[in-house]
Amino acid sequence: MIMFELMKIQIINGPNLNLLGVRETSIYGSASFEDYLKDLKAQFPAVQIDYYQSNVEGELINKLHEVGFSYDGIIMNAGAYTHTSIAIADAIAGIKTPVIEVHISNVYKREEFRHQSMLAANCKGVIVGFGMDSYRLGIEYFIKQ
Ligand code: DQA
Repeated sequence: MIMFELMKIQIINGPNLNLLGVRETSIYGSASFEDYLKDLKAQFPAVQIDYYQSNVEGELINKLHEVGFSYDGIIMNAGAYTHTSIAIADAIAGIKTPVIEVHISNVYKREEFRHQSMLAANCKGVIVGFGMDSYRLGIEYFIKQ
């Protein structure tokens, strides 16, 4: 019998993204991430999609280290740490698994401090402004590889 290993993708959400569905719904929509994740998993039955969320910078870094040498892809929405965290940028540079930076909102339509990403230069690419669909687009990329 031939056994196929599932492709493994880790989604990592940073600070305040636990409040999706409740927080600033005019910007981020009214769906919770847990509901969206159910849909996403149903759309990609052949992919192992794991989810982690933390509001703590060091915990996000620990998760990158934990999965960053064995998973096929990481989709990361680092929230506001995107714009500030050299430590997360270094963690992305230090691991083997490619990371796609995603944002739900179009950060380029918003305040100027959101236009800068500390992480983008160390990522495979960036997906911005497609609502929750930004995560699905990232998964599509990894599947095509
Ligand atoms: C965000 C954009 C960030 O600027 C903000 O701090 C977030 C969410 C987004 O998904 O649109 O927390 O990453």
